[in-house]
Amino acid sequence: MKKLVLAALITAAGLSFMTAQVVAESHSEMTASEALAERKALMGSMGSQTKGLVAMMRGAPMDWEAVKAAGDNTQHVAETMPTLFLEGSFVPPSSASPAILLDIEGITERFEKLGTDGKALSDAADNENVEEFQAAFGAYISNCKGCHQNYRI
Ligand code: HEC
Repeated sequence: MKKLVLAALITAAGLSFMTAQVVAESHSEMTASEALAERKALMGSMGSQTKGLVAMMRGAPMDWEAVKAAGDNTQHVAETMPTLFLEGSFVPPSSASPAILLDIEGITERFEKLGTDGKALSDAADNENVEEFQAAFGAYISNCKGCHQNYRI
């Protein structure tokens, strides 16, 4: 399984073999329960930032700093999540489906898309452009449900 995860990492990030080795080593230092906690923390941050974005979609005053922070955080989450599906981390209180280990490529592709949409949010914030923000938000929010339906229990 570690090989599978590593292969997905290399594909996902275009990492050189050397870099990939370093990543693999740093992961071997992370325990399964740490990986689980990190997943929950990252996804929890997605939940709270989305509330603020939804409010802006519904007409609350634009807070471009918050949009920028959400876009940047989304890119960070999207890059980090695929590295956190360690064997032994699919235990309570995780809601991640163990099937992820059989399809790490599928979930990584979805995280790549999430990262792209997160970048669009950051770009909209840089341009302080409301229409761009609304389009980026639509793309961003379309990621959540599909992945949760397929990869959560
Ligand atoms: C490519 C897959 C994927 C995408 C896209 C995704 N999530 Fe998740 N999400 C997960 C997985 C897997 C879990 C379960 C993590 C665990 O418990 O180990 C999760 C869990 C969560 C949780 C529960 C965290 C907790 O404390 O248990 C929230 C909230 C959440 N996601 C919000 C979002 C929002 C909002 C979006 C879209 C903006 C989103 N997610 C997009 C895969 C995804």
